[in-house]
Amino acid sequence: MNNEQLLDLVKQMTLEEKTAQLLQLTANFYEGTNVEGQITGPMEEMGITEQSVDASGSILGLSGAQAIIDVQQAYMKKSRLGIPLLFMADVVHGFKTIFPIPLAIGCSWDTELAEKSAEIAARESAVSGLHVTFAPMVDLVRDPRWGRVMETTGEDPYLNSLFAAAFVRGYQGDSLKDEPDRLAACVKHFAAYGAAEGGRDYNTVDMSERNLREYYLPAYKAALDAGVEMVMTSFNTVDGIPASGNEKLMRGILREEWGFDGVLISDWASIREMIAHGSAEDDREAAYRAIRAGVDMEMMTPCYVHHLPELIENGEVDEKLIDEAVLRILQLKEKLGLFDNPLRAADPEREREIVFSKEHRQVSYELATKSAVLLKNDDSVLPLQPDANVALIGPFAQSPDILGWWSCEGVKEDAVKLGTALQERLTGGKVQFAQGSNVHTITAEQIAEALEVASKADLIVLALGEDSEMSGEGGSRTDIRLPAAQLELVKQLKAAGKPIASVIFNGRPLDLHGVIDESDAVLEAWFPGSEGGAAIADVLTGVVNPSARLTMSFPQSVGQIPVYYNHFNTGRPLNPEKTEERYVSKYIDSPNEPLLPFGYGLSYTSFSYGDLEVSSNEMTAEESLSIQVRVTNTGERAGVETVQLYVRDVTGEVVRPMRELKGYVKLALAPGESGTATFTLNEEQLRYHHSDLSHRSDRGEFHLLVGANSRDTQKKSFRLV
Ligand code: GLC
Repeated sequence: MNNEQLLDLVKQMTLEEKTAQLLQLTANFYEGTNVEGQITGPMEEMGITEQSVDASGSILGLSGAQAIIDVQQAYMKKSRLGIPLLFMADVVHGFKTIFPIPLAIGCSWDTELAEKSAEIAARESAVSGLHVTFAPMVDLVRDPRWGRVMETTGEDPYLNSLFAAAFVRGYQGDSLKDEPDRLAACVKHFAAYGAAEGGRDYNTVDMSERNLREYYLPAYKAALDAGVEMVMTSFNTVDGIPASGNEKLMRGILREEWGFDGVLISDWASIREMIAHGSAEDDREAAYRAIRAGVDMEMMTPCYVHHLPELIENGEVDEKLIDEAVLRILQLKEKLGLFDNPLRAADPEREREIVFSKEHRQVSYELATKSAVLLKNDDSVLPLQPDANVALIGPFAQSPDILGWWSCEGVKEDAVKLGTALQERLTGGKVQFAQGSNVHTITAEQIAEALEVASKADLIVLALGEDSEMSGEGGSRTDIRLPAAQLELVKQLKAAGKPIASVIFNGRPLDLHGVIDESDAVLEAWFPGSEGGAAIADVLTGVVNPSARLTMSFPQSVGQIPVYYNHFNTGRPLNPEKTEERYVSKYIDSPNEPLLPFGYGLSYTSFSYGDLEVSSNEMTAEESLSIQVRVTNTGERAGVETVQLYVRDVTGEVVRPMRELKGYVKLALAPGESGTATFTLNEEQLRYHHSDLSHRSDRGEFHLLVGANSRDTQKKSFRLV
């Protein structure tokens, strides 16, 4: 259908049909539809009619080719105008083949593989009947107390933007109509949901518009620039107004300034939640504010269907607003080819063949090996030798709970467990198991058994972590250490006097005190997905040399939060050579520096850096700088070094961060081999939001900082003239 035909279709729709098109419900409303026309439980509870359900626009949370075929076919039989349903779900890091959580994927610094993971997730979802995924989630996060930190790629706006675009490309491909195995993507949560005060989910977000634009908005914009079809509103307020009713944010920035003309969907009940926020008296006012803000779809509440017809009939809302919303939804359905084929790629046969295939799991394995960050490796305790005699101890030694939150149709029991994989690899040695503790509890018997097993081994591998319920939505924590039971296990085993390599499975940066000091080696495994155990075992045994780098700072303690690398200097910066000074910006009970910095990660080999070379000490708007550094693999194993380029704008119209990531180069080097990391830096990359919100650069002094992470860098200066 062309636009004229779609416009004509809108004209044929009654006001009730148009408002129903804006309604999104879960599948039980449809599966339970009683052909005798009785209103089923969910409908009655929500106070909506069967007519609204029969004319509704989309379903969330249903997947499975046959199920969707059945619901769509039953729906189309009743549809007066033949407008098909959209089917959407949270395919965030895989459909059934589960990839590492996005925070882990971010640590791979591999946007191509990230894109590949999204393409696979889309393929599995599409043959299972889905049309749209509620992803990528690109909320910038500087607070690991927030449970949904696991869903993001980290604390840096530049890197998050690269991943946002990569995920959109992977989900959507080049043409949704010509590529039925793709999904429309929905970037979320607009905006700044990750800045919830106290890291407490759904909490207030309050910041200057300049800060919002400088740090929190870029990744959403990158998703839009990559062609994302949908945007989802966030639960939080932005400058005192809930996002779902925030005209300035939605109509002002998203639609008018950025030109987004796709579908804007609320988050689950976030329109009605304006009442709880205190910005709408009732559903009627919530509907009024949301439609004026430009929210097209209402997820799981009936404010629109109950009140928009009357608001229009009495002239408070211009019917044009509804028509625009309906048209955007129909345009998306057209882009997906649903008017030609409402079943699109749903195919039970292909579903059986493609979903969770070996090829897909191989990509999940590869991404997991590239997402695990080696945080410590004293005396090269790792990699394990083939004939190692290992005691594998801890609640995650044989745990299937390694998929993480938002693992969609993933089945934990299908995940490759660490212990199984390690046994398969240490054929020349021995792997003995002991539970050691549960995630949250420990018994004397468990300790005794662990000590017994440890006494017979040469080395202890501890498998520790958070269970998947300890992060994700609604999973905020005020204490970000490992559970006390596990810290007790570490303490007990430390006394055994054997080398300890700890593997951590978790959904957030943790306060690692109580484990990192007691361990000789620490590997950050995150939630590594369906092939997680195999990937982590291959890193532990050296089949793979770890190359991942942290994309979020690990704090010394929860008291240090927020701690992030691109911070300001303050007027009284702490001088690391004079930590005894009192009247400077510091704590009296903690260092200022995080425990582990953004960009940090170790390898089983080592790298040395030559001198930083810069093409000039002056840059103009017309002439960029070329920056080079030679890197040599000085170890005995091949490895990948992620050379990072940071820039500091020494003096700005507003204060500027101590450093900001502007680029990175991954060098794969054989033992003894050297390579050159080359960067080009131009004036556009030096622009920032001034106090008047203009986005431009300032002439003056800049520092170039290049190195293996955001802390260990070498510096050169240049001037923008
Ligand atoms: C949830 C989440 C959102 C998700 C939606 C549908 O509350 O906030 O990310 O896409 O509801 O499940």
